Amino acid sequence: MIIILTGAGISAESGVKTYRSDTGLWEQHSIEDIATPEGFERDPGKVRAFYDARLDAVRAAEPNAAHLALSRLERESQVPVLVVTQNVDDLHERAGSRRVLHMHGRLGAPVCAGCGAGLPGERLEGQPPCPACGGQARPDITFFGEQPKHLEEIAEALSQVTIYISIGTSGEVFPAARFVRRARKRKARRIEVNIRRTRITNDHRELRHGPASIEVPTLVREILAEQLELDRQEGAGPDGQN
Ligand code: APR
Repeated sequence: MIIILTGAGISAESGVKTYRSDTGLWEQHSIEDIATPEGFERDPGKVRAFYDARLDAVRAAEPNAAHLALSRLERESQVPVLVVTQNVDDLHERAGSRRVLHMHGRLGAPVCAGCGAGLPGERLEGQPPCPACGGQARPDITFFGEQPKHLEEIAEALSQVTIYISIGTSGEVFPAARFVRRARKRKARRIEVNIRRTRITNDHRELRHGPASIEVPTLVREILAEQLELDRQEGAGPDGQN
């Protein structure tokens, strides 16, 4: 199985802000206020306004060549492909990827902070109290200190990984930053795509250090060509003749 872990860097060229760059979200907003259960408790309106604004930004963005290349890989690869994303945008799905796990949640899916029930519509602001328990709306986003989503499915997939690719993630957040180590244990091929070195660069064997919109389409072409070549060789008899 090919597993791709994506971070904010894959959406940067679509105009969606990353978190930890000089102009990143965490430079302009306090994590404690915006992305913790305590911050939500203190000022839920501020948190709702922040994530509604992020939803608007994502709605104004388009998938880029990196997203499109991954959906092509899913369509054409002879082995299963799974995208595990830390991103809360829907650019993978809008690019055509179907097997996508959002381990940190997603924008545009308000839930009740009380009972967890899904709430109508996409926006947080203006949501009436939860019809089931009277609770207030919160984003379906994993706040710091909360359990990420889909960890069992991800662990199951990592137990079958043959190629592991990290794209546009700083490797600063766990457990996502640890996945490459599980891939190493499986002796999987490990490739990092990023514009610079990260804290998990040394856990990878191949480095594609450049913009995702350039590096990912190239990498996808190579992987598909390798599969075809393998096919051709396997198709050919011991004497190399078909
Ligand atoms: N192409 C490739 N990589 C890029 C590009 C690009 N065009 N632009 C930026 N990057 C890289 C940066 O070098 C950096 O390593 O993307 C990474 C973005 O890192 P972060 O902003 O830390 O984002 P991410 O790794 O996704 O953050 C993980 O932290 O704040 C939490 O829950 C949030 O899911 C998020 C998690």
